[in-house]
Amino acid sequence: MTPYQTSEATLSLCRMAPVIPVLVIRDPAHAQPLARALVAGGLPVLEVTLRTPAALEVITEMSRIPGAVVGAGTVLSPKDVRAVAAAGAGFAVSPGSTDRLLAACAERALPILPGAATATEAMRLLELGYTTQKFFPAEVAGGVAALRALAAPLPQITFCPTGGIGLANGADYLALSNVACVGGSWVASADLIAQGDWDGITALARAAAALPRSG
Ligand code: 3PG
Repeated sequence: MTPYQTSEATLSLCRMAPVIPVLVIRDPAHAQPLARALVAGGLPVLEVTLRTPAALEVITEMSRIPGAVVGAGTVLSPKDVRAVAAAGAGFAVSPGSTDRLLAACAERALPILPGAATATEAMRLLELGYTTQKFFPAEVAGGVAALRALAAPLPQITFCPTGGIGLANGADYLALSNVACVGGSWVASADLIAQGDWDGITALARAAAALPRSG
């Protein structure tokens, strides 16, 4: 199989901060203040999930905030790839990976953080050139112990685990040699966003940004 693209760009994104906030945003009016709050707290790389009708507009609005590096999450199809690229997304994140999805990102040179949850899935992505991958759903798929086990035979893969991670267990993941950053929704919960508690979100972002990491 022909390699699609390398993971250099996604690895650089993953190294910018220890945590990528996973965002579900319903009201486009929340986009700019939320992005400002997260960037102020030290988390510049933002994943806006395609789970609300507002998501594409939110990506465009957030991209206007200085210092924000805005990507799209829950990208599942070539149609999604076209839409998020047009909205100005700088990268894509997917819970798994399919040939069509990977090819669509490669065609547009859109960096993608593709999901894997098993050694076989990770190896398939590795064959295609993707050395930086999302490990999802992290806690359910074996968590820290699974990632430590994968590091032995597959040390060349760097992961961004996501799913079930928070401030309490984030440090355990970030201590692993094969983890560059983690993803999580805890820094910007639906409740805090609905309340417009931007200071509260900045405080959570600051705590997340201070998590030590070694990978
Ligand atoms: C998701 O896709 O929702 C992410 O995995 C976030 O998971 P979390 O809500 O457990 O952080």
